[in-house]
Amino acid sequence: MTAEQRQSLIDAALAVRQRAYVPYSGYQVGAALLTDDGHIITGCNVENAAYGPTICAERTAVVKAVSDGFKSFQAIVVATENAGSPCGVCRQVLNEFAPQITIIMVDAEGAIQAEMSLEELLPRGFGPGSLP
Ligand code: THU
Repeated sequence: MTAEQRQSLIDAALAVRQRAYVPYSGYQVGAALLTDDGHIITGCNVENAAYGPTICAERTAVVKAVSDGFKSFQAIVVATENAGSPCGVCRQVLNEFAPQITIIMVDAEGAIQAEMSLEELLPRGFGPGSLP
């Protein structure tokens, strides 16, 4: 990932965060995925009155990407007001496609507060290779 790609990814995550549908929590999340071939695919969280059907921003981005034919990812930026960490379900979904992905957490100003591999966030994760 070039410095330019990194900045584009941060800008995209901040922009899509504004589209978050969060009438219940008020916690806006924006995610931007960088595919192996350099495309950027974004997602926001979409909440639901029944709470359980709520979809996180990271999973919105992954599902959009796969639907558009992209299944290899090198990085994801997650933007929240406090540079929050991806939830366990999103870690698991990322692990399905990109166990080596780099995860960058930024605050509402786009400042990087944490950057780490999925392997650090999901050690010994269960993935496609775990099934006999
Ligand atoms: N949320 C995300 O979008 N991603 C995460 O990894 C953690 C949580 C959303 C779900 C819900 O809309 C709001 O943040 C509060 O939990």
